[in-house]
Amino acid sequence: MNVDMQSQYLGLQLGNPLVASASPLTGRLDMLKRLEDAGVAAAVLPSLFQEQIEHEELALQQLHEYHTDSFAESLDYFPELDNYNTGPDEYLDHIRRAKEMVAIPIIASLNGTDPGGWTRYATLLEQAGADALELNIYVVPTDPDQTGSEIEQRYIDIVTAVRHAVDIPIAVKVGPFFSSIPHMARQFVEAGAQGLVLFNRYLEPDIDLETLDVVPHLVLSTPAEALLARRWIGILYGRINASLAATSGIHRTEEVIKALLAGADVVMLASVLLTHGPEYLQTLLEELERWLSEREYASVRQMRGSVSQQNCASPEGYVRSNYMKALVSYTGKFI
Ligand SMILES: Cc1cc2nc3c(=O)[nH]c(=O)nc-3n(C[C@H](O)[C@H](O)[C@H](O)COP(=O)(O)O)c2cc1C
Repeated sequence: MNVDMQSQYLGLQLGNPLVASASPLTGRLDMLKRLEDAGVAAAVLPSLFQEQIEHEELALQQLHEYHTDSFAESLDYFPELDNYNTGPDEYLDHIRRAKEMVAIPIIASLNGTDPGGWTRYATLLEQAGADALELNIYVVPTDPDQTGSEIEQRYIDIVTAVRHAVDIPIAVKVGPFFSSIPHMARQFVEAGAQGLVLFNRYLEPDIDLETLDVVPHLVLSTPAEALLARRWIGILYGRINASLAATSGIHRTEEVIKALLAGADVVMLASVLLTHGPEYLQTLLEELERWLSEREYASVRQMRGSVSQQNCASPEGYVRSNYMKALVSYTGKFI
């Protein structure tokens, strides 16, 4: 077996196409080390949330107002705030320590819903040593007066603001709920994104039947969820000038291979690593290499995108016709 597993993502040269997605695993230095030892090619840190930054800024502002009102000498106090240990500061510290501990690229993640002051925080993530930045943008539209284009513009404004703030590559992690994913993808690229992470896996709230309250509901993904991103990556491959990362439902080697065949540059893993531990990466890497070798692929690059809409024997399979065929050919226990 001598297959070239190298992959490129956001202009970063990676040893293979397996990336640890944002999750509590990458938030721990010991786990980052285990992920690296098991062969992960890069890691995305858990997100720093807009709310965390805004909360922190508000707290500092209140502290500032209190002290300026109360004490004439208060300005002397402020240099000491540099040591104020807060969520965002801990995040920056985690980037620095991760960069010292592991050699793989570290991708920081900012998670928010509005363009605003918080996006300036991207500069600090870059200065702390992040090799790239993933922007997780998640807007839940609730106002019937707000149009789809207004919401899309919000997404673009966030990417534009961050693009102006940093020089490191940016990837945008979004959900699948756009009228035109290819058009949106192109707009992200024009706004300065070098990569797209498809798709964000939204956690739908549940209703507690005891308290009649709306409650958060976190379940890990299943392999069936990998189909959605696979399809859109297959459609986008070769059509937009950006790296493509597949996320959600990639559990087995089978999902890894299919994502790459559709055209993904990398696959991102969270649920499966949380379930089986970082060392499961070794199994995936060995099985991927064996599959490629048995089919006489010299490299991952050679197989990438070969079953994209652009290259496969039945490109219409990615669009509507398969839908009809699947429905009319259904057979089951009662049919
Ligand atoms: C416990 C947990 C925490 C997560 N935290 C983040 C996060 O902070 N930022 C983010 O962009 N995605 C986060 N995710 C989403 C994952 O990065 C990933 O996109 C999603 O779980 C789908 O991939 P999977 O099927 O491999 O789990 C989290 C997922 C889980 C399960």
